Amino acid sequence: MTVELMRCPDDDLSLGTLLRGWRERALLTQEQLAQRADLNVRTVRRLENRGLQQPRTTSILLLAEALGLDGEERAVLAAAARGPSAERGDPVAVPRQLPAGAAVFVGREHERTALEDTATVAAIDGMAGVGKTALAVHAAHRLAPRFPDGQLFVNLHGHTRGMTPVDPGDALARVLRAFDVPGERIPEHVDDRAALYRGVVADRRVLIVLDDAADEDQVRPLLPAGRGCRLIVTSRRRLIGLDGTRTLSLDVLPAREAVALFTRTAGPEQVMDAPAGVLVEIVERCGRLPLAVRIAAVRLRARPAWSVGHLLARLTDDRPAELTAGRHSVTAALDLSYQRLSEDQRRVYRLLGSIVGAEFGVDEAAAVQGTTVVRASRLLDQLLDVHLLQEPAPGRFRFHALVRDHVRALPHGTWGEVAGPF
Ligand SMILES: Nc1ncnc2c1ncn2[C@@H]1O[C@H](COP(=O)(O)OP(=O)(O)OP(=O)(O)O)[C@@H](O)[C@H]1O
Ligand SMILES: [Mg+2]
Repeated sequence: MTVELMRCPDDDLSLGTLLRGWRERALLTQEQLAQRADLNVRTVRRLENRGLQQPRTTSILLLAEALGLDGEERAVLAAAARGPSAERGDPVAVPRQLPAGAAVFVGREHERTALEDTATVAAIDGMAGVGKTALAVHAAHRLAPRFPDGQLFVNLHGHTRGMTPVDPGDALARVLRAFDVPGERIPEHVDDRAALYRGVVADRRVLIVLDDAADEDQVRPLLPAGRGCRLIVTSRRRLIGLDGTRTLSLDVLPAREAVALFTRTAGPEQVMDAPAGVLVEIVERCGRLPLAVRIAAVRLRARPAWSVGHLLARLTDDRPAELTAGRHSVTAALDLSYQRLSEDQRRVYRLLGSIVGAEFGVDEAAAVQGTTVVRASRLLDQLLDVHLLQEPAPGRFRFHALVRDHVRALPHGTWGEVAGPF
């Protein structure tokens, strides 16, 4: 019943319709339901016929129990029982904060389905520019009709130039204000803010997108308690420490989808006569990273005189320079990940990127670092967690081609520090 209703957001989700549907599903007459819930049968009738505008909370709880509703259904029932907030003179706002989705969205079928099926919290991780935000926003727009009490979008600025990650207390204050909680009612302490936040969203159906989280600690206070809410988090770091979370690690795009993103962004007239092989070569030079593919396509669109062959030659010649357009640049995006590393991690990143071959094992990693396998392995794990390193097969490691470009372009002055043992 609920599933059907949720697929049809325009359907009548009034209290009466819901109650009647659930009562019929339970094969109960109005009299039987009244008896089970220990309510007067007139109350049940008036609720189903919309004659009772403001039912008591206890009546609603008793009915939910008698109908055997699950958590999600209870949240739907509670929202319907509250009715439109204006009718109650309640100042609670309905925030609609989702940014516009990408004009062209390709692929990610599996991830989109997974996000739609996830019960409460989903965390999307992956390297810089792989498409975490694009996917979260795209999925959120599709999910929005199921969350009529609001859609929140909070940029946690885990990786923004010139900004430190947002303090969770500040993020909570912003969210509370979005629900019209007056400033003077927002408590001082982060725990009290989190408790108030959980109370505000408890029996509401709210979708929350937390974009670019630095780590689990930044996200934890913003986890809703109610089952009627859905949270989508994006992060360059694997958020393994969040309980009850479904994790989706995004990889670069398959060649066919990367070519589709390239051609649709560049515009058909720019690629009309291009041999398919050249387009595949271009997206491969971009490491099939959506950010890089988009930048390359935008550059081609801006230069009508260029052929795709010319673009490919430029990408072969000086890839990092070519993958920069205005304020968008692959190097700048990766720099932000690099800046978040500890000194030890930076050192091992530079060593591995410059000395070891294309693919390597933990023994080679330990040798070039002049350290033990245990210690080398721990640092490799840390680089894997922030997606600066890949593990194509168990115990085998490599850098994404664009990450390798990045590490090789780091200023030479930094090489001096790597000599000492650690
Ligand atoms: N599936 C996709 N379809 C179309 N465009 C995409 C897709 N994925 C990503 N893009 C585009 O690629 C660029 C980078 O994507 P996005 O900003 O989502 O990456 P990100 O993983 O969030 O990066 P960061 O770690 O820097 O936040 C954006 O311009 C985005 O619109
Ligand atoms: Mg992002």
